[in-house]
Amino acid sequence: MATVAPQLQSSPVYLRIMIYQHITGLIGNTPLVQLHRVVADVPAPVWAKVEWFNPGHSIKDRIALKMIEEAEKKGWLRPGGTIIEGTSGNTGMGLALVAIQKGYRCIFTTTDKQSKEKVDILKALGAEVIVCPTNVDADDPRSYYSVARRLSEQIPNSWYVNQYDNLDNRQAHYETTGPEIWEQTEGRITHLVAGAGTGGTITGIAMFLKEKNPAIKVWAVDTYGSTLKAYHETGQIDPNEIYPYLTEGIGEDIIPANYDFSLIDHFEKVTDRDAALMAREITRREGIFVGYSSGSAVQAIRQLKHQLRPDHRVVVIFPDHGSRYIGKIYNDEWMRDRGWLRAASAADLTGARPLISVDRHAPVAEIIRLLTNHGIDQVPVMDGQTPVGSISESAILNHLLADALVRNQPVETIMDPPFPVVSDDAGIETVSSLLQQHQAVLVRDAAGNLHIVTKTDLMKALAC
Ligand SMILES: Cc1ncc(COP(=O)(O)O)c(C=O)c1O
Repeated sequence: MATVAPQLQSSPVYLRIMIYQHITGLIGNTPLVQLHRVVADVPAPVWAKVEWFNPGHSIKDRIALKMIEEAEKKGWLRPGGTIIEGTSGNTGMGLALVAIQKGYRCIFTTTDKQSKEKVDILKALGAEVIVCPTNVDADDPRSYYSVARRLSEQIPNSWYVNQYDNLDNRQAHYETTGPEIWEQTEGRITHLVAGAGTGGTITGIAMFLKEKNPAIKVWAVDTYGSTLKAYHETGQIDPNEIYPYLTEGIGEDIIPANYDFSLIDHFEKVTDRDAALMAREITRREGIFVGYSSGSAVQAIRQLKHQLRPDHRVVVIFPDHGSRYIGKIYNDEWMRDRGWLRAASAADLTGARPLISVDRHAPVAEIIRLLTNHGIDQVPVMDGQTPVGSISESAILNHLLADALVRNQPVETIMDPPFPVVSDDAGIETVSSLLQQHQAVLVRDAAGNLHIVTKTDLMKALAC
């Protein structure tokens, strides 16, 4: 915590400048921010606990600090030791931050579904990262749980954090996040809404809040492909409920020891699609750049809004920052590839792939190789930067059937008229009507570069 030289303590500057010994001193005490537009149809005020104000940009900084401090007290972690954990990324970042301060080595196992950003950040914080397959059972020797456990048995002076069953996880939230919410809402909170992964967040906060006011409703947010909701309702793990999903940080295929299901009143499931679209909406309309599971949490509130009244006070947890999902939910092509984003203009149809074209003088044989190698049906024929014609697989075949020697001729001798060219702000209707008459359409972007849009691209976009 801050140390201030005695001579400064009398100066007025003292109160303004607090010097933290280390960045980890800033873990916790995150703000509550009122939401407006994304909950306009929700009868009760909704306050978001924005956990990316933590130095590691996620709620997991809290548990990282607590679990390490407790492990040191219990002698599980000794000087020069190695911290080993299976993590979706956020816990790894929190652990790596504290490890830098205390001089520990970090080895993290994660799954190949996690974003590249998360893995790169762990490496940037000096951790060694082992990426394991997502689609294997938890007890499979290749799973990120098993690899972490095995490493901790092999590496001397190492400590396996196991945030799933380590009760210091939920204890961190009982001691910090819960009290902060109670204080910030002056005890007026009536509903807590939080994503459920290890269960530390929802159980730890609920333990504290229900001690203060047992009437507070606790709503856990789950995802399709996770067994948590079924377990809460039946006490059984339902294997039919377990299948791969995209939402990161929440949902589970195991039942971590951190859960106290008796404190949780309801589990609400949200789809990967709705969570992604809602996260984008929170970012665009509230200006809070949130992660994937924050979208799940607000979508859950909207799905349950009929259970809320104007006198209720809802606190929702925003666990991490949107920057970790730049390559996914904040990437329009990633969203469109999943059919989650409707194309509005020609620009939305082009994607990032470079234009493949041929020169008018190129021999037909070369075009055949190009179409085959790229698995495409047609290309524009260019004279420099100008499209002067087009050629398709079926046209070449017809010419070859008529005269096999055509293969040695320049393509300009057999090419068809050029594809129509539109600017990238042309409406999707314009493109679709042109694709009624033509194999493809060329789209010129603001920088003057050409892109191609085929019937397949339009079909994919319209399937949204
Ligand atoms: C982005 C994100 N959201 C939600 C959670 C769920 O928190 P908990 O593990 O405390 O249940 C996590 C946990 O890893 C997370 O990373």
